Amino acid sequence: MNKNDYIIRLETENDYREVENLTREAFWNQSVPGCYEHYFVHTMRRHPDFIQKLALVLEKDGKIIANVMYTKSTLVDEHGKEKPIISFGPLCVHPNHQRKGCGKALLEYSFDRAVEMGYDAIVIFGNPDNYVSRGFKSCKKYNVCLEGDVFPTALLVKELRAGVLDGRKWVYYPSSAESLCDDAEAVEKFDVLFPPKEKAWQPSQEEFYIHSHSAISW
Ligand SMILES: CC(C)(COP(=O)(O)OP(=O)(O)OC[C@H]1O[C@@H](n2cnc3c(N)ncnc32)[C@H](O)[C@@H]1OP(=O)(O)O)[C@@H](O)C(=O)NCCC(=O)NCCS
Repeated sequence: MNKNDYIIRLETENDYREVENLTREAFWNQSVPGCYEHYFVHTMRRHPDFIQKLALVLEKDGKIIANVMYTKSTLVDEHGKEKPIISFGPLCVHPNHQRKGCGKALLEYSFDRAVEMGYDAIVIFGNPDNYVSRGFKSCKKYNVCLEGDVFPTALLVKELRAGVLDGRKWVYYPSSAESLCDDAEAVEKFDVLFPPKEKAWQPSQEEFYIHSHSAISW
């Protein structure tokens, strides 16, 4: 992907529908039959943790082919000290444009903007295959866990400033923004506003199950 072939800019209200459509195309049947991520995008924008200045779209020939959105999240150390951090997701690249460097370009641009805004660490749940080459490491390496000392395989950490997590134990608290998607009825109601698409099984769903049900124990 040549740098002159695309622009990266902030999402505007006029882009909302196009971004939701793109999200649906990118995530359809990926982790479950159908998907909920377009509803997540739709509701996230009104959530207090949404970071508008990090809602970015990548545009090529006047069409949005990739986007990323961030929310505020928190790390808490053993003394109860809170550290504001950020998390991204969804990150979407249109299926016709995947594996050409769009995701990489968009993420690296967003990391630079995040640093400018004063953020120094990112924690996400994601498939490690997609993010280790972007500098993400296992949460275990940074001593970042969920409540109950759980170190999920899919919990990934990137320091935007080297050494900022300093080895102490941190518990990660994601934004509550995604919990709105637990409402399956609301997701279905929203989905009918889009062109019909067939729900089906595909192998990536098993991969998702494995990643999202496993943890690092040593
Ligand atoms: C995952 C996703 C965001 C990646 O974006 P992308 O533009 O397709 O990926 P990129 O071309 O930028 O490549 C990113 C990394 O993927 C890997 N990659 C690239 N091309 C690849 C190929 N042909 N085969 C396997 N891996 C490849 C590389 O590790 C690459 O990083 P590197 O070049 O620095 O080594 C995109 O494929 C997508 O939207 N998928 C569907 C939705 C999704 O799964 N989102 C993420 C949820 S965790």
